[in-house]
Amino acid sequence: MKKQLSFVPISLLTLSPGKPVPVDIYSWVHGADKPHLFLASDRILESDLLKNKPDDVELRLFIEPSSRSDFQQYLQRLVNDNDHIKTLNDERRSAIVSEVVRDVLANAFKSESTSTIVGTANLLGQHIASLVSETQLSMTGLSKILHHDYGTFTHSANVALYSSLLALRMGFDEYSIEDIAVGGLLHDIGKLSIEDRILNKAGKLDDMEFRIIKKHPLEGFRRLLSEENVTTCQLLMAYQHHEKLDGTGYPVGIESDEISKVAKLCAVVDVYEALTSKRPYRNAMRPEQAIEIMSRDVGKHLDGEILEIWKEFVFENEGALS
Ligand SMILES: [Fe+2]
Repeated sequence: MKKQLSFVPISLLTLSPGKPVPVDIYSWVHGADKPHLFLASDRILESDLLKNKPDDVELRLFIEPSSRSDFQQYLQRLVNDNDHIKTLNDERRSAIVSEVVRDVLANAFKSESTSTIVGTANLLGQHIASLVSETQLSMTGLSKILHHDYGTFTHSANVALYSSLLALRMGFDEYSIEDIAVGGLLHDIGKLSIEDRILNKAGKLDDMEFRIIKKHPLEGFRRLLSEENVTTCQLLMAYQHHEKLDGTGYPVGIESDEISKVAKLCAVVDVYEALTSKRPYRNAMRPEQAIEIMSRDVGKHLDGEILEIWKEFVFENEGALS
């Protein structure tokens, strides 16, 4: 049996009862010395399999690394099966969609081709917009599902989902929510031009490195400008998401009313996602800590009204947090 480290963790929520999974799935119960086969490939997940598990035992599921692409294809088929995905409960559906968005976006980013990324973002944006419009998502539920590592694609996938949720609450229509979801997926595309050494640096950036980082909004804007099917909203999200209300942001240093509403929206969830994710030099912050820090900058950096709407969403199910 291989060591646990060689297995890839998956969420139980991504398994769909009644649908066979094309790969072997292993479980590793706390205290056990090795993983056991939980569900053999192409067997249907029966709800009985979960009944024998005591409620206080956390069931951790894994697949072998060699099964990863087959598992992702299975998830993609589930997402594309519109009739089936709509029958799933909100938590299961959001787990499947977010896994697919993250993984498919990761592959597109690896291609380093702007056209491939834009094409992929347009497809994924539709799934995100439907998910957000048709389900009741809460930050408590999302925190169990979303990854919080520091990769540009993970960050972009989370920002896209958060942007759409915020847009829905700000009253944007369904068409705009999809537009904004795609913008979230693309907002940091300019980082493709920055070396990993600088993006993943564990210590403080020196002046030269920070100057390079500050080029990514303009670089992203340039990349997107030469593509078809990119909207003004998406261009503005990429170009202006680091501008601040008091004019101290970058790349231009424009102020309050000069910054577009969608870029202000993007800035709120961009900062929130960054603070609540693990960084090479610090641990992830808790939601209340992140909101507290963001509130200090209202009027200088972030738009107060938009932050207030985001804050309401984050704390909506605060009673359920424990
Ligand atoms: Fe950025």
